[in-house]
Amino acid sequence: FIDDISAIEVMDSRGNPTVKATVRLSDGTTAGAIVPSGASTGKREALELRDGGERYMGKGVLQAVENVNSQISDVLIGMSPFNQAVIDATMKELDGTQNYGNLGANAVLGVSMAVARAAAQSLGIPLYRYLGGANAMVMSTPMLNIINGGSHADNNVDFQEYMIMPVGFEDFATSLRAASEVYHNLKSILSAKGHSTSLGDEGGFAPNLSSNEEPIQVIMEAIEKAGYVPGEQIGIALDVAASEIVTDGGYRLESEGRTLGSEELVAYYENLCAKYPIVSIEDGLSEDDWDGFKLMTEKLGDKIQIVGDDLFVTNASILNEGIERGIANSILIKPNQIGSVSETMLTVRLAQRNGYTCVMSHRSGESEDAFIADFAVALNCGQIKTGSTARGERTAKYNRLLEIENEIVYSEYLGSALFT
Ligand code: PGA
Ligand code: ZN
Repeated sequence: FIDDISAIEVMDSRGNPTVKATVRLSDGTTAGAIVPSGASTGKREALELRDGGERYMGKGVLQAVENVNSQISDVLIGMSPFNQAVIDATMKELDGTQNYGNLGANAVLGVSMAVARAAAQSLGIPLYRYLGGANAMVMSTPMLNIINGGSHADNNVDFQEYMIMPVGFEDFATSLRAASEVYHNLKSILSAKGHSTSLGDEGGFAPNLSSNEEPIQVIMEAIEKAGYVPGEQIGIALDVAASEIVTDGGYRLESEGRTLGSEELVAYYENLCAKYPIVSIEDGLSEDDWDGFKLMTEKLGDKIQIVGDDLFVTNASILNEGIERGIANSILIKPNQIGSVSETMLTVRLAQRNGYTCVMSHRSGESEDAFIADFAVALNCGQIKTGSTARGERTAKYNRLLEIENEIVYSEYLGSALFT
């Protein structure tokens, strides 16, 4: 049974405080988990409880820590750690709101993850095996964000993420190697062109460029220079994070000095998809622009993966609405958008049953905790995006996946199916 639960305030990768929860079981097993934090958050995400005031520019999480140490501990101590759904439901009931508006999703998720990890450790099995059972067998194709823009960097690029997706390889280790080689070639290409090679929040480069298309052009160059075939071996994926660029007059492309309406923006994507091996576009429209998303799905849905992040916020009922209305064909999975391990699993299940692909995802504010690597394999997500091949909080996830791949024999690449 659960013997003790506690939390402390620790640092995330952007230097902001976040919650680390620790769970001790009666057999002596102790496990902790650290909660991540986004910058370009969706409006309907579960509440991230921040203290306000002057401490840490208002971003302290002492109240969330206190909620773990008192209210949450009080209800969970003595319970079995082996029934995750009951643990999570108990916290949901204690909170009493739909979005963890009382306890804070950062308090709840920290405990939820720490309980799962303690349970796995107590049984002596890896976390992915505990959460996924014998069914955990599909390695994830990585989506690596090698040029950062939008609210993740100080450069002028409007789109938030330019990712490479190594889809044409036999296994995860070879995919990661290819991505790393492209990353290094990109660095020398940017240097040679006189651009900055400093890094954004997710470990990708953050140069100033003349349009939102130019990052794709330099990435294409880097893929070829690294000796890989664009499209066949390495595809390109975008996260526009369009909720961040929407204005009253339309979608503002600052670096290009123009503002586009939904139809024009979808046409912009159609043009990019015709010119480059783009396999996936996330949040191409703003979270409120469901008509625009519908249009994009009609125009591009049979050619590429259309991912909803801010759009669906890992929320099963919002996803369900999207499924009914034929919006997008894929969902980004961020546990802290919904607040617990069990609710994340339910959303993945709903997506998979309805033919939507799932992309497990980090946040732009991360930590050394690699929970999502195990989680992606446990749920057979088939895809994971967790930044570039640089910055420890990003490589922690890739390094964990390398370990997992060594342990499980079977691997299948969903990514390659995108090209058929
Ligand atoms: P965030 O960015 O963690 O800042 O929300 C990640 C994403 O938009 O996918
Ligand atoms: Zn996103």
